[in-house]
Amino acid sequence: MKVYNFAPGPATLPEEVKLEAQRDFVNYNNSGMSVTEMSHRSKVYEEIHNEAQSLLAELMGISDDYKILLLQGGASMQFGAVPLNLLSKGKADYIVTGNFASKAAKEAQKYGDIAVVASSKDKNHTYIPDVDSVAFREGTDYVHLTSNNTVYGTRYIKYPKTEAPLVSDMSSMILSEVIDVNKFGLIYAGAQKNIGPAGLTIVIVRKDLMGKAMPVCPTMLRYDIHAENNCLYNTPPAFAVYMAMLNFRWLKKLGGVAEIQKVNEYKASLLYDFIDNSGFYKNPVQKEFRSLMNVPFTTPSEELDAKFVSEATKNGLISLKGHRSVGGMRASIYNAMPVEGVKALIEFMKKFAVENK
Ligand SMILES: Cc1ncc(COP(=O)(O)O)c(C=O)c1O
Repeated sequence: MKVYNFAPGPATLPEEVKLEAQRDFVNYNNSGMSVTEMSHRSKVYEEIHNEAQSLLAELMGISDDYKILLLQGGASMQFGAVPLNLLSKGKADYIVTGNFASKAAKEAQKYGDIAVVASSKDKNHTYIPDVDSVAFREGTDYVHLTSNNTVYGTRYIKYPKTEAPLVSDMSSMILSEVIDVNKFGLIYAGAQKNIGPAGLTIVIVRKDLMGKAMPVCPTMLRYDIHAENNCLYNTPPAFAVYMAMLNFRWLKKLGGVAEIQKVNEYKASLLYDFIDNSGFYKNPVQKEFRSLMNVPFTTPSEELDAKFVSEATKNGLISLKGHRSVGGMRASIYNAMPVEGVKALIEFMKKFAVENK
């Protein structure tokens, strides 16, 4: 059965990318080997590694002022790595707009003076606080925020202007819309939504911010060590890097981030417009802050939510159950989700609403 996978991550990958990986799995580029078996010091792997970095730089417009790191440990590892590397003065501000932002702040509190300077908790994270009226402290090392909140379905539409470098967790929106990287000191993202399989974590760090890690920072978490070794300090997640490279090639062929952003806006507007006009489904997020990637919604009752998830699954629309902290449903519609997938979901939602009104 053909399925559309609306999972929040690991998430659906482009069909073309999966087929290419399948074709090359046993014998990559006539090397006689799979990427999963080859030395990370071999020339053939080095080409994959370097192409992944240069394609990401091209797609996001990342200048030479930054280093792209291909790491492991997930975005959660960065919750600790960021303070351990950047807290040279010992002080940072955090904006908390969801569970992952909150986890990042809690982890940082182990290492310094961390203040939550704004939060959307008062309205169950259904909006993004006004970034222009946040009272950032003076003399901080950085300001941390989460660009897209995967669980709550919110997204920043504007970033604060801060004296301290801006650090963003872009796990669930990287490469989905055009971002001016120069506004950020550091960007990090787990790969398993818009980049490839789990196992790879991307860190884009401004070069002048490296080299100030706390003495206690584990060597494996030090950005400068990874940068000096072109992320070959130890064994990199070679197969995940290879899959990322294929995904970057796919996106480049489609016309890059500006083009996929148009598709993403179109997919999201189809779904939100349908929800808003349905008289049956609801999305709780303030309109201007609605995510292009994660769309939470509910039916009129919890019983119907459960029935919806179960019937959708039987119809090949899978992984629609909402996060346990929000309930209801959530459709994650990352770059690789085709427009037809969103249309199929809307058709099913229409039918379900008629049958259950
Ligand atoms: C915004 C955000 N940050 C962090 C994480 C945690 O990522 P990981 O599982 O790669 O540690 C997630 C996972 O869904 C996420 O969506």
